[in-house]
Amino acid sequence: MSTQGKVSKITTNTLQVMKQKGEKISMLTAYDFSMARIFDDAGIDVLLVGDSASNVMAGHETTLPITLDQMIYHAQSVVRAVDRCLVVVDMPFGSYQGNSKEALNSAIRIMKESGGHAIKLEGGEEVIESVKRIISAGVPVMGHLGLTPQSIYKFGTYTVRAKEEAEAEQLVKNALLLEEAGCFALVLEKIPATLGKRVAEALKIPVIGIGAGMHVDGQVLVMHDMLGITKSFSPRFLRRYLNLYDEMKKATEHYISDVKSKDFPNEQEQY
Ligand code: KIV
Repeated sequence: MSTQGKVSKITTNTLQVMKQKGEKISMLTAYDFSMARIFDDAGIDVLLVGDSASNVMAGHETTLPITLDQMIYHAQSVVRAVDRCLVVVDMPFGSYQGNSKEALNSAIRIMKESGGHAIKLEGGEEVIESVKRIISAGVPVMGHLGLTPQSIYKFGTYTVRAKEEAEAEQLVKNALLLEEAGCFALVLEKIPATLGKRVAEALKIPVIGIGAGMHVDGQVLVMHDMLGITKSFSPRFLRRYLNLYDEMKKATEHYISDVKSKDFPNEQEQY
């Protein structure tokens, strides 16, 4: 199996091999067919159908409002687009916190109805029973620790997590618990780089960071942030590769002006 170059489907096992080889894992969020097609064609390793769809697609302030049905809809669109990458689907707030039976039912709905390859959920020891139950049904689970946006009202802010010793120790303990429970990978969000390094070294499974520093096994960004579609969100960890907001605004202004001035359509652009 090649982990670089020609199409060979990325599986959870591929990610494990990549970690062992020291090959960094690239991951982006995606929520629709057209963008997912571009990312897969570009060679992304993992696409996350993130519950950040609640923010960037639906315009909500938090990730809490998005529903299981809405996540499945986004995931179906992404799955239809990809040939190579692994598609991980976020379990939305309220679809797994109740009990492990509810969590399993939600995970099964995602897998059956969307065709996604794995699910992601937030939390440590409080969700371990659910993680084990979902994995025992054959569904790969990615964990998510550090800043967990579904708990934003508990934290009160989106600032860096686990800067204090006690919270850092708790995070390491939860990371080990998730690995022991059978998670195939772990996302760490907005924590000190030294802690990201410590967790990546302590775990055998790949650790993928978003604002967790350079020493973890891979990186994930929200596509709208990476492409510069969002403008106001500028955390230190974000590198923008395009300024699409301005580019798209400029193109739209140009189009409006061409319509108003009767420049568009011209002779060649009509039947
Ligand atoms: O929903 C999401 O976009 C995420 C990433 C921030 C990891 O969970």
